[in-house]
Amino acid sequence: MDALAGGPFGWFCAGVTVLFGVTVLCVAKRSPAEKANVLVWRLLPASLGLLCVAALGAGGGLAVFCGTCLVSSAYLGSRALLPVGDKAVLVTGSDTGIGHALAKYLDNLGFVVFAGVLNKDGPGAEELRRTCSRRLSLLQLDITNATQVKEAYLKVSEKVQNTGLWGVVNNAGVLGFPADGELLPMSTYRRCMEVNFFGAVEVSKTFLPLLRKSQGRLVNMSSMAGGIPLPRYAAYGASKAALSMFSGVMRQELSKWGIKVAAIHPSGFRTGIQGTSDLWDKQEKELMENLPADTRQDYGEDYLLGLKDYLLHMPAYCDADLSPVLSAILHALLAKRPQGLYTPGRGAYVPLCIFCYFPLWFYDFFIGKMLSTESVPRVLRTSEAESKNL
Ligand SMILES: NC(=O)c1ccc[n+]([C@@H]2O[C@H](COP(=O)([O-])OP(=O)(O)OC[C@H]3O[C@@H](n4cnc5c(N)ncnc54)[C@H](OP(=O)(O)O)[C@@H]3O)[C@@H](O)[C@H]2O)c1
Ligand SMILES: *[C@@H]1O[C@H](CO)[C@@H](O)[C@H](O)[C@H]1NC(C)=O
Ligand SMILES: *[C@@H]1O[C@H](CO)[C@@H](O)[C@H](O)[C@H]1NC(C)=O
Repeated sequence: MDALAGGPFGWFCAGVTVLFGVTVLCVAKRSPAEKANVLVWRLLPASLGLLCVAALGAGGGLAVFCGTCLVSSAYLGSRALLPVGDKAVLVTGSDTGIGHALAKYLDNLGFVVFAGVLNKDGPGAEELRRTCSRRLSLLQLDITNATQVKEAYLKVSEKVQNTGLWGVVNNAGVLGFPADGELLPMSTYRRCMEVNFFGAVEVSKTFLPLLRKSQGRLVNMSSMAGGIPLPRYAAYGASKAALSMFSGVMRQELSKWGIKVAAIHPSGFRTGIQGTSDLWDKQEKELMENLPADTRQDYGEDYLLGLKDYLLHMPAYCDADLSPVLSAILHALLAKRPQGLYTPGRGAYVPLCIFCYFPLWFYDFFIGKMLSTESVPRVLRTSEAESKNL
């Protein structure tokens, strides 16, 4: 205890730290909700400071105390959530997958949920009707149909008159058939843009007046494939990239209205988006029919028919537990300081970092290794074999 004996300044520092600790204890007692969290992260600086006053002397102790205070308030600040209260949130594409799970999750937490569904009489809607509270309303909402978007807006604005609409989650989306960009039919490009981009824009534009009133949140479900180029995702990735860019611009423009905008870039999760074998057959047929004879020759029948294998193997790389995505969306909706971008899921963050901070050739090499498949187009196979024989 040399430092304390060292003079009145040491005693003063120790006094301040103890006073701080006692205040934190009193505050924690009054707000029991996040008690453990607050206690640990607020008492940490106090106890570290006290220890260091003893060990390093008053100056060192004060420095450590201030440092840990900064770190812990940054941490607590990023975790602090607003109360759910009677906040109302619209989720599009709640028939299946992430949207469906999100509607249930938010309903469970006490939100007033407006679940937009593509088919109001479908099994997904039926399930929500059966399992969720009476706060949840189902809305017939094909986001590519302007009439339905308008009707949904009228219903929502009528119901939330006093409280306003807190959040819109642009979740509805389609994947299309993952295949080489050269092979994909124009209809796939158009469909992806129609739903993933124009649909989300129309929903956002329609509901923004309600969000401006509540100074609420806009959350866009983009994708990992919308942030970085990935083979086979030319159509889907381009539509999601358009959505991400829009989100970025909106984040800048809407901040003056107090609206916070977040984009979510999940990696693979097991949902309805991977489709069914019936759907794949249909998409494969469409792809084949639109292929010029030359291209068909060059790629070869077995390469083309092998495209479906990729979908077959996809579930193995996809996580069945959707909770990382749900937590990311909840944080985007309720955090006092939400992030602009969330990357939930295995392998969503590292490729993005490599894309952002490394030379492009290295990124391409990395992705080539990560997503390598055995299949090679016919023409390339024969030339490879020839060069080996030489
Ligand atoms: N799962 C993943 O690995 C993953 C990864 C990155 C990003 N995402 C994104 O996350 C979002 C949700 O995907 P998910 O995996 O949950 O897929 P999902 O199970 O297919 O859910 C998408 C939902 O959107 C609906 N939908 C399709 N077209 C629509 C339209 N025009 N209007 C309204 N709703 C429409 C679908 O209805 P139907 O089922 O009736 O067609 C479906 O319920 C999508 O935006 C997706 O791009 C998913
Ligand atoms: C759009 O929705 C309206 C109302 O539900 C429906 O009558 C109309 O047929 C839909 N249009 C298209 C193109 O699906
Ligand atoms: C989401 O994207 C749409 C356009 O795609 C945009 O209008 C909207 O403001 C965006 N919202 C957020 C929260 O990013």
